[in-house]
This record gives sequence, structure tokens and C-alpha cells, in this order.
Amino acid sequence: MSSIEEIKARLDILEVVSETVQLKRSGKTYTGLCPFHENTRTPAFVVWPDSGVWKCFGACNEGGDIFKFVMKRDNLDFPEALKILAEKAGVVLRPPSALESAQREEHERLRAALEEAVTFFRQQLTRTPAGKPALDYLRGRGLTDETLALYELGYAPTGWDNTLKHLTEQGFTEQELLEAGLLSEREKGGVYDRFRNRIMFPIRDERGRMAGFGARALNPEDIPKYLNSPQTPIFDKSALLYGLDKARQPIRQRDQVVIVEGYMDVIAPAQAGFNNLVSPMGTALTEAQLKLLKRLTRRMVLALDADAAGANATLRGLQVARDTLDRESDPVFNARGLISYEGRLQADIRVTTLPEGQDPDEVVQNDPEQWRALIAAAKPVVEHVMETLAAGRDLDDAKVKTEIVDQVLPLIRDLGSGIERDTYLQKLARLVRLDERTLLAEVGIRPSVRPGRRPASRPTATPAEPTAPPARRESPATAAAESISRLEAHVLSILMRQPELVYRVDRALQQAGLPRFDTQDFQLTNHQIAYRFAQESLEQDHTEPLNFTMENLPLPLFDMVDDLLITSEDYDPAADRVLEDLLRAILQLRLKHLRQSGDQLRYLQEAAHEQGDLKASQYGQELLKITRNLERVNRALGPRGNLTPATH
Ligand code: UTP
Ligand code: MN
Repeated sequence: MSSIEEIKARLDILEVVSETVQLKRSGKTYTGLCPFHENTRTPAFVVWPDSGVWKCFGACNEGGDIFKFVMKRDNLDFPEALKILAEKAGVVLRPPSALESAQREEHERLRAALEEAVTFFRQQLTRTPAGKPALDYLRGRGLTDETLALYELGYAPTGWDNTLKHLTEQGFTEQELLEAGLLSEREKGGVYDRFRNRIMFPIRDERGRMAGFGARALNPEDIPKYLNSPQTPIFDKSALLYGLDKARQPIRQRDQVVIVEGYMDVIAPAQAGFNNLVSPMGTALTEAQLKLLKRLTRRMVLALDADAAGANATLRGLQVARDTLDRESDPVFNARGLISYEGRLQADIRVTTLPEGQDPDEVVQNDPEQWRALIAAAKPVVEHVMETLAAGRDLDDAKVKTEIVDQVLPLIRDLGSGIERDTYLQKLARLVRLDERTLLAEVGIRPSVRPGRRPASRPTATPAEPTAPPARRESPATAAAESISRLEAHVLSILMRQPELVYRVDRALQQAGLPRFDTQDFQLTNHQIAYRFAQESLEQDHTEPLNFTMENLPLPLFDMVDDLLITSEDYDPAADRVLEDLLRAILQLRLKHLRQSGDQLRYLQEAAHEQGDLKASQYGQELLKITRNLERVNRALGPRGNLTPATH
């Protein structure tokens, strides 16, 4: 048994959940008010003690196992949650392998070098004549000494080897400093200080560990204006956000994060009390970054400067593009990308446009109230695009109408929710003064369920489950749990070895009218995470996917997967049957999940209905969706659980 399994076996999910949620028994499940969102009267948070999973059927619509629960509740990543739960369960985690401890040690050494550099640069800024102009400059930009200390701003002196000398005196080798990104290499050999005559912004990860630096030139002639640490073992710009270490708490408290574009745009507003701001480091906003934020809040506001948001009237998106000459990669968040992130992450992404020629730093310093108002006025992405496109245009001009419609319709089409699609179609129709039906005809978007058009409670009563035996024929619940976890393990073992199969799986699923395969198809957090590594293995071509996955898995997961691979070693169906087998397992998994959810939703719906809770109709709609999916899954599986030809 891997340590993960052992922990689960020893801990009672009810006990852990009860630490924060008051649970009431109802049949085989326990329900309570979801701790992760504001609740109405009906307890929509459900725990299945036998299978060790939970799910919220309310606003967050999320679920998982004991690990996921603790991760969400305490804002931890998987290894952290694991450590805590292992302790609780009295399970000793296997000590890291030699290779892993060597790697960890190396990282710690690099961080130590960077910490030392922070101290050195600070000292240069605050205690040396050479740092005086930099200090004056920063004070001149309105920053107090307190703020400078909080954000640990520093100064890297002019000259080729000041940092080098100081840090080697502290016992770091040139090699280490090079790897930490503090030095650059001459082509002919030899090294020199990467950062010279610059203001230094330490960049820490969300846990506060040093990762790298952003460095602003003092001399306007120096290019680039901002120079970052290079990619290092501990500095990956695409997975870090400047300011997140300090903004974490405020983001949670305000339940909102504001994404700005520069270091100064994080710091100056923070000084004025707006401390829930973070910034990417001159590159496009990535999904990894949004995911970091999603752990803290769903509500995200992008504060874009005016040219980025508006200039591009032909806009393919909201381009946050500008002179790329001194940038390492072109920063583009386009509207389409944002909308797909929004759907995938179930986030609420809004956009606000800053006044012409100003950035947040300046807005806040001029007038904090204006900043507050700008954030409050942030609009959903589609609306933002519509307004930006329409601003100052002649909306009676047919060409203008066409242009706007052409830009906006694809965005609307991408929206995950039918209600949103309808709402924006109406808005668009109104904006360009066209009949909504004309628009619809144009694109062939079918209007979906209109809120309020259907009697909320009627069609949801008892959804049919074509091939499901009459009601509760469930085997003892533990067996059910076992079979879910075994099915998941089976699916995972195949996808670990042949992750590329997922493309064919997706095609088959889509042909059957079903959503693509997704990490959410796994209920167990360890499976979800392991699968994510398998997915990543497809995005590199340095080594075999399975090797890559195994090299990168955190230790305890490594153990679990290793077990999995050993026990599944003998499984070797003829190549042409693997796909079918995989599909069948996935569909069966879905069937189980859907039934589980369906049962619970029916129960919730009744409860809500009795209490006159408005949620009843929402549950009804959910249930309808689930029923439809169930039908499709059943159809795809065929009468005896075999795949029907349609899915091949
Ligand atoms: P800006 O050029 O708008 O600078 O770049 P800023 O933050 O307003 O800087 P100040 O106010 O003149 O000091 C915004 C952000 O884009 C990235 C940096 O993260 C910067 O904070 N950037 C900009 C780069 O990475 N490289 C550059 O050369 C310029
Ligand atoms: Mn600025």
C-alpha cells in the first residue's frame, strides 16, 4: 500500500471535514453547508464516507477526496497537504531518494544565494552613496521607506563584479551564482554581474521563497528597461506572480485579485491600501498563474492600460502587446484565451480599462477613489470587448455593425454557459441595433434554455437512466468505492504509459456528444495530480512520456504510480483493444459519477424545494444536464456495457 492509500485508510474523512463543517447524516451520505462559498439555506455540500469523497453541488461545484479538501481549506498544494495528513495519520513518508535530496539541496542553495543578494542590494540602496540616486528616485516616485523595506527593494551597483565579489566572499561559487541567475557568462568564458546600476525588485514565490529578481534600469539609455532573472531551476516566470507572497491574505480576505502589469503597479497601490494586486513579469498571463490565483479567489480583475485595451480596433483580442524589442516574449492575453480560461477554471474574469496614458501606479497616486471606481466598474470580458469596439463608432453604419458582430460572435460562441450566451447575444443585438433573430441566423447559435422560460421544477422529477437497473441496487458502498478507485487506477495506468491516447479518447467522446476527458474524471486527488503530470509529459520531447512523468512526480505520488505500474504490468491487450478498453473504463467511471451526483441532486432539489429555496430550480437544471449526460454515456456504452460502434 502506498503512503497515500495508507493515509486514506487511516483517516476518517468525516472527522476531518467536521473540523470545519457541521455535517448531518442523510442516508448513506452526510451533508452540510459548503465551507468554500456563501451558502443559501440548502446544505449542498455532500460527503460520501464510504468512498471517501466529497462534492459541493452549490456555487463551487467542486469535489474530491480528503487531500483535496485540506488543500482547499488550508490553501495548500498537494505535498503540503500530504505532509499534514501523514502526520495526522501517523504515516511516515518515505524519505526522499538521493537524487531528490540532492536536487532539493541545490534549490535551497540557490535560494540562499538570492537571499544574500537581497540583503546586499538593500544595503547598497540604503547605506551607500552609490545607492543614493536610486533611493532618491524611488522616494521621488512616492514610495515611503517603509514600503521600500516591505518590498525589499534594493540597488545593484554599477561595475562588473560587485555582486560576484560580495557573494563569493559569502561562500557561494561562481557556478552557483550563475545558476541562480545573478551572473552572466561571457562568450569567451568568464562571468560578470548580470544586474548593474539597476533598482532590484526581489521576486518570491507564493510561499515567500526567493525565486529571482526584476530589475529596472536607472539610466534611461540602458536597455531593456526591465531586466529579469533568466530561467533558472527556481525561476519560472510563467508560473510566478509578482507580489503574490504578500497579496495572498488580502486576496482571500477581499475575495478578489487585481492583475496589473508592472512591479511599481503592485507596490504603489499597496502603499495606498490596495494590497490585493499581483503582476506577471512582462509575459503573457498563463493558465498556471491563473490557477495559482484560483486557489485564493475566483474573482479576477485585469487592469489593462488604455492602448492595450482599446487601440486595436480590429482586435483579435485584448492584446497587451507593445514594443517587443526588449521583451523576452510577447505578452498577449487575448479575449478568446481569457474566456476559455474562465470556463475551464470556473473563474469570474473581468476587465477594466485605465485612463489613457496612465498605469495603476499613477492612477492610485493621483486619486485612490478613482482606482476604487475603476475596479468596481470592471466588466466581463465579452462586454468589455463590445464596449471597446463600439466606442466612438457609428453604429448605424452597416460595415461597422458587421465588423463588431464578426469580432464578438466568436467570443460568445466560446462561452461555457447557455445563459451567458443568450444574455450577450441580446446585448450585442441591442448594441448594433439588429434583431436578435437576424444575429442568430447569421451564426447558427441556437438559443439555449432561457432562464425563466421553463417551469423550474417540472421536467426534472425522475430522469430516466436507460440501462440502469431500477433504483438502489448498489452493492455495499465500500465495494462501490473500491470499484471507483480501481477503475480510476486502471484508466490512469493506461494513460501513464500512453498519454497520447487521450486525443483518440477525446475524439470518440466528442463523437458521442460527450465532454472531453478531463482531470475531473478522477475523483481521487492523487490520480488527478498524477494524470496532470502525464499530460505535461506530452508537452515536452526530451524523454519518453513515462520517464518524464516518473522523474517529475512528487515522491509519494511516485510511490503510488510505481505500485500502479507494477500491478498493471501484465495488462497487455492487443494494441487495437487498448483504446476500446480505456474508453469503456472511462465511460463506466462517468456512469458511476453521474449516478452518484444524480441521486444527490434529486435529494438536494427536494430539500430545497421544501424550504422554498430558489436553488431548487438550479439543482433541477443541473439534474437535467446530468440526465442528458447519463443517457449519452449509456448510449455510448451500449446495452451490455460494450461500446457501440458509434464511438469507434
Ligand atoms: P512599463 O514599461 O509599463 O513599466 O512595463 P512600468 O512598470 O510602468 O515601470 P515604470 O513605472 O516606468 O518604472 C510594465 C511591466 O512590463 C514588464 C515589467 O514587468 C514592467 O513592470 N517589462 C517592461 C519588462 O519585462 N521588460 C521591459 O523592458 C519593460
Ligand atoms: Mn509605470
